[in-house]
Amino acid sequence: MSALSLGTWAFGGAGQDDGRDVGWAGQDDATSRAALRVAHSLEIRHWDTADVYGQGHAEELVGEALKAVGRETVFLGTKVGWDRGAADHYYEPRTMARQIDASLRRLGTETVDVLYLHHCDFGPEDRYLDGAVDVLHAAKRAGKTRFVGLSDWSCEAIVRVLERVNPDIVQPLRDVSRDDFVSSGLARRCAQRDDGVVFFSPLRHGLLLGKYREPTSFAVGDYRNEDPAFGDAGFIEHVGHAAQQCRQRFSDLPHPVLNAVTGALLEDTPNACALVGQRTPRHVRSAAAAQVALASVDAAWVRAVFRQPGAC
Ligand SMILES: NC(=O)c1ccc[n+]([C@@H]2O[C@H](COP(=O)([O-])OP(=O)(O)OC[C@H]3O[C@@H](n4cnc5c(N)ncnc54)[C@H](OP(=O)(O)O)[C@@H]3O)[C@@H](O)[C@H]2O)c1
Repeated sequence: MSALSLGTWAFGGAGQDDGRDVGWAGQDDATSRAALRVAHSLEIRHWDTADVYGQGHAEELVGEALKAVGRETVFLGTKVGWDRGAADHYYEPRTMARQIDASLRRLGTETVDVLYLHHCDFGPEDRYLDGAVDVLHAAKRAGKTRFVGLSDWSCEAIVRVLERVNPDIVQPLRDVSRDDFVSSGLARRCAQRDDGVVFFSPLRHGLLLGKYREPTSFAVGDYRNEDPAFGDAGFIEHVGHAAQQCRQRFSDLPHPVLNAVTGALLEDTPNACALVGQRTPRHVRSAAAAQVALASVDAAWVRAVFRQPGAC
């Protein structure tokens, strides 16, 4: 599995849910298709998607690409849990079961490699937890997925239900600017359980590469409007400075900052990979070239230069 694997959230395009921006603006299908083709040819063959990315559109694009390259050549993950439809809750069992079948149809396959619960909000008093776990594991027994997974933006939330869900693979948020993977206890628990680990949004949606000079907002429907860090001049300056230090320290690497911020996450978790939002062929080429592990001393240095007490 490629250390920097491919995330397809952006392929769904811009979108809103309950007035919140939940997608990515400025994406077109031709670019998404090209990114998938290049990723496959450069051996980036772990692809992550979800039913909710563009209301199934990202899955359709992935399905189309799989038809061309051969389903069996890609480790394929998708997620269920953020498309509620008309149900009272995201994890209403019949809705979940329908969503899983719809994902398989769009992806053009009878089985994915990993099917995740997309988040850990199981309603008041975890009313929907048992049902969601039953549907997930039933999908595995029915051969609709090889492995089951669990995800959330909060590592604490994953820890709380880890034993109950009993996943094979965990997908937490982790980036060097706000890293609670270790402090939450999730790192230790995953190691004890021998779970696979897939970190998402390792670049903080591009911000940690140090390419922004000032607070930035995006077109309607772009999730980055929801992350306060994109509007925080002090944080952007701090990240710019940290990125500059990485360019100097790792000047012998082809993509010093990309390599630094992802390598620092992978160094302490041998069974992990990071899902980078590779929305263009250029992003894919950088990710393919940046898959160099960091030494412990370098990883600790990177974590220290990006950490900013009190940052959002
Ligand atoms: N389980 C969950 O709840 C969850 C949540 C979020 C994400 N995910 C998964 O994780 C994947 C990655 O998340 P993400 O897109 O937020 O994360 P990211 O990898 O932190 O950021 C991706 C963005 O960074 C920029 N970028 C990427 N490579 C670059 C390069 N080489 N040079 C310059 N800029 C580059 C691009 O934006 P610009 O070019 O526009 O700057 C790109 O869209 C998603 O696609 C999805 O599969 C899962």
